[in-house]
Amino acid sequence: MAELSRQTWQARRYAATAAFVPAGGAAVLALLAPQQGERILDLGCGDGALTKEIAAAGASVVAVDAAPDMVAAARAGGLDARVMPGQSLAFEREFDAVFSNAALHWMRPPETVLQGVRRALKPGGRFVAEMGGHNNIAAIMVAVAAVLGRRGLNAPALSPWYFPSALAYRAKLEAAGFAVTEISLFGRPTVLDSGIDAWLDNFAEDFFAPLAAAERAAARTEIVDLLRPVLVDETGTWIADYVRLRFRAVAPK
Ligand SMILES: C[S@@+](CC[C@H](N)C(=O)[O-])C[C@H]1O[C@@H](n2cnc3c(N)ncnc32)[C@H](O)[C@@H]1O
Repeated sequence: MAELSRQTWQARRYAATAAFVPAGGAAVLALLAPQQGERILDLGCGDGALTKEIAAAGASVVAVDAAPDMVAAARAGGLDARVMPGQSLAFEREFDAVFSNAALHWMRPPETVLQGVRRALKPGGRFVAEMGGHNNIAAIMVAVAAVLGRRGLNAPALSPWYFPSALAYRAKLEAAGFAVTEISLFGRPTVLDSGIDAWLDNFAEDFFAPLAAAERAAARTEIVDLLRPVLVDETGTWIADYVRLRFRAVAPK
């Protein structure tokens, strides 16, 4: 059963305040190394910023995302973008590669997604992706858990995310039939030019949805107050404690 997040994805807000996400995808795009004439699926494409770069390499790209507003933005940019959750990919042996940046951790259960990716790939096709990994945004998670806990809510149970270790995800890739050619987990402190409030707006709605409207502002203020001494540097810049998992895996021939 697919577990869809309650996050309301707004393409305009995302483009204005979360451009650091596709910008952070440069290395995984290089690992994909899209070739002229290849057919590539961009899974969880968002507004299509990276999809465009894959297309610019001469590949024919299909982009899918669960959020209608993001897909509309990608289409407005001239891309073949479709509303399709990663848990119900409807492709058979069609793609030379499946690519994903900063999206797989939103798609649960991962086993269902991996089966769909494998079905979508041609034999020997590659799956190249980057996602949040084990210990990603640990400080943010602890602050959210503390503040929601005071209100009788269990933050881990409300989390829309799956942040696996390299060990755990390698096992899932292999169980789905992939041969893993590389996988690594690494810290990537991420500057939030638009601050923590915009980050919470873009990504953290699942935690606030169960609170009464009147409680939300107070809870956010408490979370931000807990995080400020940890995540703000001496120049006043918010830097989030991102940990990413990047991998390349190959489907069986
Ligand atoms: C942080 S954005 C990343 C977007 C894009 N890949 C980028 O690098 O800018 C995460 C994206 O995952 C999408 N998403 C979340 N859950 C999804 C699901 N179950 N299936 C497909 N896409 C999903 C969201 O709608 C959002 O566009």
